[in-house]
Amino acid sequence: LTEISLDYPDDQSSFPFMGDVPVLGYRYRVGIVGATGAVGGALLRILRERSFPVGELRLFASASSRGRWIETPYGTLLVEQLAKRRIPELDFAFFAAGPEVARNWALKLAHRGTLVIDKSPYYRDKSYAPLIVPEVNPCALDGHRGLISNPNCTTIPLVVALQPLHERFGLKHVTVVTFQSVSGSGKKGITALGRELADADAEPSTYPQRIAYNVIPWIGSQHGRYTGEEVKMVAETRRIMNLPRLSVRVTCVRVPTLVGHGLAVHAEFRKHIPVDLATEILNSSPGIKVIDVPAERIYPNPLDASGKDDVFVGRIRRDRGPNCLAMFIVADNLRKGAATNAVQIAELLLARRAAEQT
Ligand SMILES: NC(=O)c1ccc[n+]([C@@H]2O[C@H](COP(=O)([O-])OP(=O)(O)OC[C@H]3O[C@@H](n4cnc5c(N)ncnc54)[C@H](OP(=O)(O)O)[C@@H]3O)[C@@H](O)[C@H]2O)c1
Repeated sequence: LTEISLDYPDDQSSFPFMGDVPVLGYRYRVGIVGATGAVGGALLRILRERSFPVGELRLFASASSRGRWIETPYGTLLVEQLAKRRIPELDFAFFAAGPEVARNWALKLAHRGTLVIDKSPYYRDKSYAPLIVPEVNPCALDGHRGLISNPNCTTIPLVVALQPLHERFGLKHVTVVTFQSVSGSGKKGITALGRELADADAEPSTYPQRIAYNVIPWIGSQHGRYTGEEVKMVAETRRIMNLPRLSVRVTCVRVPTLVGHGLAVHAEFRKHIPVDLATEILNSSPGIKVIDVPAERIYPNPLDASGKDDVFVGRIRRDRGPNCLAMFIVADNLRKGAATNAVQIAELLLARRAAEQT
């Protein structure tokens, strides 16, 4: 096998493989790396729900899950461990196993001809790995090299809602406060909330403080006085919307909900943005459902959004002046925030391939 340098040069011409999609009408060899995790489980359900053309499905996880058989919508399947001497032959690999695993394995698979879609943060700032939200920047897939990155679970709903408004009114500034569920931390976040709800004396484990009956204004690593989650949201929003100097202010907060991230958004545009017109534009944009009947207390919330693929927008209202709009956004972080977006990227690649062939 060819040995691949992990310090990959940011030069696309040195990619020996141009990740191409095999012929149409084919059922694909699909792998899920991190299949036993929160996002991996959602991926299994979504591939089945959307009838993705799976011919062969292989599941990978850590050494501790190797050899386990797990129930999936495709039947009971064996969990394998990735091994250097047996790099799997796959058409698509969905990575949902964290940045270290992505760093160690994604390029190895891409070099072997696998189309890799990674949900970890590792490649999100690498120019050779387009960062894609299909409703927002499908053209960024042009000339991809077989490795595609999936954005952060709060960035995705934010840009899905902002992009159609930006196209009409020109986005100038956005301030966001997030309300992020424990499943955003994967299995260990879900376990921590369950344990702390059951035992009022349980010590905090996954988070610095108890998450049950609490909110924690800190997500991820430390970047000065900011958090890793906040830094990611700023950089990814700018990259996906192709607005490198966009003014973005973010505070990320972990809350004791199970699934579904909320975002309180205050946006300023270059032009006057009538609230009714903004609502109409949002309602007719792909991937968005407006839920906004204030008099009946109808607005997006994580429980209602859980298990759904749309980005829900409500509480749409005038903010500081005629160019400013406030709204509340919710999306299922495991689905549109992660797995659904990844499967949509794969579907988009297949659709583009079909268009090329006709
Ligand atoms: N949760 C979200 O809302 C969300 C949203 C967007 C993106 N993401 C990203 O998606 C990735 C997965 O997140 P998650 O929430 O699903 O985490 P999780 O529930 O903790 O699952 C992690 C998965 O990775 C597997 N894994 C760990 N070490 C591995 C190794 N060396 N080789 C192969 N597999 C390994 C685990 O296997 P074992 O079961 O054997 O340990 C498990 O299947 C992360 O990069 C995260 O940042 C998560």
